Amino acid sequence: MSTYKIDVITLTPTAFSGLNELGVIGRALSSGIADLNLYNPRNFTDDNYHKVDDEPYGGGVGMVLKPEPFFDAFDSIPTSSKRRVLMMTPQGDQVLQEDLWRWSKEYDQLVLICGQYEGFDERIRTLADEEVSIGDFVLTGGELPAMTIINGVIRLLPGTIGSAESLVEESHSDLLLEHPHYTRPAKFRDLEVPEVLRKGNHAEISYWRQEQREFRTKSRRPELYERWIQKELLARSKVDPYSGNNLDFLLRKDHDPIEDPWWD
Ligand code: ADE
Repeated sequence: MSTYKIDVITLTPTAFSGLNELGVIGRALSSGIADLNLYNPRNFTDDNYHKVDDEPYGGGVGMVLKPEPFFDAFDSIPTSSKRRVLMMTPQGDQVLQEDLWRWSKEYDQLVLICGQYEGFDERIRTLADEEVSIGDFVLTGGELPAMTIINGVIRLLPGTIGSAESLVEESHSDLLLEHPHYTRPAKFRDLEVPEVLRKGNHAEISYWRQEQREFRTKSRRPELYERWIQKELLARSKVDPYSGNNLDFLLRKDHDPIEDPWWD
């Protein structure tokens, strides 16, 4: 098994030490499933003050990160043949689970460039293959977004999580939210574990879980549900292979996945 390389360009490398404390991720790093290296542009300056920013051309408040230390840090990173360079910025494309799968499968090296919200020289963008955002909100820098991506990608690498099966299952339905989980006791305060789970009939349990996933997704994340349905329709050529029923009804606004599931 080859090691997945993750290289981060950041002005605050110590921020990443927390990744080693995250059980599953820390173990993947210490066992060589992934290798994390940090590059601080400040170490690639040649003035006495190790200056990484400067005043903006055209005036304005705040400072702008200079291109040279970022380019020099970037050039110092050993390159593998299947490398992808990501720039963290709220202006980027929103990261989806399918991106995490793509980066984990199609590449063996991720380079993550962390900027600062106040601004970086526009030319730094030219280093990136993709500009990515973790959501429509603004953080002070790209470190937390980079750590989020690192966590999500390492989790998908072979060997990180015990059962590859559960990941494959997840990837087939990654647009649906998780069903509810319970453990003992069966009754806690006034809250009871649903009977179907306690009875232990496996067919009924998987039916119930699938219903719950669809119901939760439809009510909490309708746009995700819509995407899932579209994917299902595509996979099933719009017709349920068992009943021969046309599945267009799944897209109706008033469709209730529990009352009227697609497999009935
Ligand atoms: N840098 C600051 N905010 C960010 C965000 N939401 N996503 C990615 N990079 C960022």
